[in-house]
Amino acid sequence: MCWGNRLPKKPFTFIVDTHMTSEESSKMEKIISLCKRRGFIYQGSEIYGGLAGTWDYGPLGVALKKNIENLWWKRFVTDREDMYGMDAAILMNQNVWKASGHVDTFTDPLVEDVKTNKRYRADHLLEDAGVDTKGLSIEKMNALLVEKKIKSPDGNPVGEVRLFNMMLKTNVGPVADETSISYLRPETAGGMFVNFKNIVDTFHPKMPFGMAQIGKAFRNEIAPRDFIFRVRELEQMEIEYFVKPTTWEENFESFRKEVWNFTEDIGLNKEHVHELEVADGDRAHYSKRTIDFEFDFPFGKKELYGLAYRTDFDLTSHAKASSVDLSYYDEENKERLVPHVIEPSFGLGRSILAVLSDAYSEDELGGEKRSFLKLSPKVAPNLIAVFPLLKNKPALVEKAREVYKELKKVFTRVSFDDNGNIGKRYRRQDEIGTPFCVTIDFDTIEKDNTVTVRDRDTGEQVRVAISDLVSHIEKKVV
Ligand code: GAP
Repeated sequence: MCWGNRLPKKPFTFIVDTHMTSEESSKMEKIISLCKRRGFIYQGSEIYGGLAGTWDYGPLGVALKKNIENLWWKRFVTDREDMYGMDAAILMNQNVWKASGHVDTFTDPLVEDVKTNKRYRADHLLEDAGVDTKGLSIEKMNALLVEKKIKSPDGNPVGEVRLFNMMLKTNVGPVADETSISYLRPETAGGMFVNFKNIVDTFHPKMPFGMAQIGKAFRNEIAPRDFIFRVRELEQMEIEYFVKPTTWEENFESFRKEVWNFTEDIGLNKEHVHELEVADGDRAHYSKRTIDFEFDFPFGKKELYGLAYRTDFDLTSHAKASSVDLSYYDEENKERLVPHVIEPSFGLGRSILAVLSDAYSEDELGGEKRSFLKLSPKVAPNLIAVFPLLKNKPALVEKAREVYKELKKVFTRVSFDDNGNIGKRYRRQDEIGTPFCVTIDFDTIEKDNTVTVRDRDTGEQVRVAISDLVSHIEKKVV
């Protein structure tokens, strides 16, 4: 799908990539439609026809996002003693991005349709024509576009490939001149490097140690596509881990395992995650080694996360450009050195899309077809939904409210649902991935103080005493 410069006429029509099978595109369409129908993700600025590459998260999308963020923060920050959390400003001094190399080299190859002037990623057009674009120079891309007679999606010839800087530029303050230029940060990393000295001076950390932050980044992607996979306003969860130069390999390996552990935290199927050793020539300008963690999205195997060895590139560049000493005094060996950096970088939106793709399921239950999200209880927006069997029986509603309040104290992610008949409620909760539904019926109030607990994946129902409800659910979610 390419929503680059042509806004979709119908906001949630998924334009089929030429390389996608109809089954793959239909799965994406179903996920996108479920996301809108159930309040996970809406198109950005939808009532005005949208703004390409932007998406708005509704109540359930935010809940899913926060659960993923919290698992990441727990694994990489609060469960460790060597990590310092951060939340740096998005707008930074333009010299940060000059020193980091982004002003000069943060570019993508762009071609223009000679008739419509619409712009496309040259490498994407080549990939759609079956070309492996890894490591291709601009000259080679130009040659291949001619050789393969590649046209724009509108069927017109395209011009020469040129490099397009992806940073979104703005001016800060009342005067718009060269000195007031700033950029919406293209990665969260920069905010950590410029605070390296602050963390060292304030906390005197022993190496190795890391800084971590979760936040927005902005990239003026030529062709945002594939729903929330490639967007212009994204969220990253990043770590800059500072190590002695001689120990980079062992720290790289340790984070390699941690990336896998995190994919398990959020419930991804390990068989759908793959490592790709990024070749010389394909790595970012700062990296000496990079592993991309790829995921089998419905539209193909694509980058989910990255793990890079950035050497001392960042601290050395910022020290030179700012004239501030960014070296570190190692008490143990009584030596001053410039730390090297291991950087695990996680896209939050891509995590959400991977989770949704793995969770989306269809089956037949009780003779009826259903679609549901098989989300891990750790990330599901709601862990439990509590229902009174009938909403017009005050005794049932009162008891259900009581049970709801008690469960909420323990599990927090608990919702109350009395809308529509019980079948409709189950269907709704299945579709948003709620692992357990608790129903209060006449036996509860008239007989034995038990409720039914229904399992989302099997539809099986068991009766559980209200006094045992918390431990029953706790056992299932550990
Ligand atoms: N600091 C290193 C860095 O930013 P990157 O490979 O450009 O490296 C890291 O980005 C991660 O951010 C990617 O693995 C991906 O998960 C996410 N990401 C990058 N560009 C994105 C985009 N346009 N839309 C959504 N996620 C994106």
